[in-house]
Amino acid sequence: MRTDSSANTASSATKHSVRKAVIPAAGLGTRFIPATKAMPKEMLPVVDKPAIQYVVEEAVRAGLENVLMITGRNKRPLEDHFDGVPLLEQTLEKKGDHERLADVRRASELADIHYLRQGDAKGLGHAVLRGKLYVGGEPFAVLLGDDLIDEQDELLSRMIEVQAATGGSVVALIEVDPSEVSSYGCADIQAVEGEDYVKINELVEKPQPADAPSNLAIIGRYVLHPAVFDVLEETGPGRGGEIQLTDALQTLANSDAEGGGVYGVVFRGNRYDTGDKLSYLKAVVKLASERDDLGPDLRAWLKDFVQSGV
Ligand code: G1P
Repeated sequence: MRTDSSANTASSATKHSVRKAVIPAAGLGTRFIPATKAMPKEMLPVVDKPAIQYVVEEAVRAGLENVLMITGRNKRPLEDHFDGVPLLEQTLEKKGDHERLADVRRASELADIHYLRQGDAKGLGHAVLRGKLYVGGEPFAVLLGDDLIDEQDELLSRMIEVQAATGGSVVALIEVDPSEVSSYGCADIQAVEGEDYVKINELVEKPQPADAPSNLAIIGRYVLHPAVFDVLEETGPGRGGEIQLTDALQTLANSDAEGGGVYGVVFRGNRYDTGDKLSYLKAVVKLASERDDLGPDLRAWLKDFVQSGV
């Protein structure tokens, strides 16, 4: 018979089954040159916060307060952003500007963030593999900075539950227009009876539309079984000559060993892509127009702007 205390232990173990997040942030940001010539793309402001802060906040909301950022050359501003700034804090304190002081401190108090350089830029799979020592033998999350998930939508916590229930790895999927599949990892899936998640049969990294197994695309949220590390070590270069996380997950999807099996949570909430200039501009406008302080004026201006026929 299950006693109350064993039930509590089980539920708290499930709740804390994932504690660590790996955030790859070593990319060169070439799509945003010249803005990213001397500044990491992760520091581009989305309204008034750097994109990377949204991502760390999302991890923390899902209970992941241990964060490893995989960085590279020219990424020092990331470390500075999540650190204290005594001079600025003292100045704001003296002025009695408590609101801004709280904003400054929020970033440095958010999470326990560690930094590790990727070294050779050999692809996303290689960046994740760099987290092996930090992560150890626990399931962990990977969050890619180009995707922002609306804070009303609890995608990551659902993925953590699905990982605990299945014991495998979990990807987040969205439906995209078939013409867009070549920008994403793409999944062939099957339903799991009675569940809202799906089982992945096959994953293909950035297929041509004609070769795509479906229009279900992987977005930048993963909850992975640590078995992925051994697989990544054996995964050779794939698309673009890079070590692809998608290829390692394809191996896991076909594996019956411990940690095998890959599942998908289909996300139907709001996702903001900041990965290229046009999507980034749309994300800034959408997020600003939803804010109480900026939204009303911005929406009114946008309406006039559109009506003026520019
Ligand atoms: C990476 C993954 C791809 C995934 C995408 C989501 O590609 O390799 O499978 O669909 O992230 O954003 P990237 O956009 O880094 O080229």
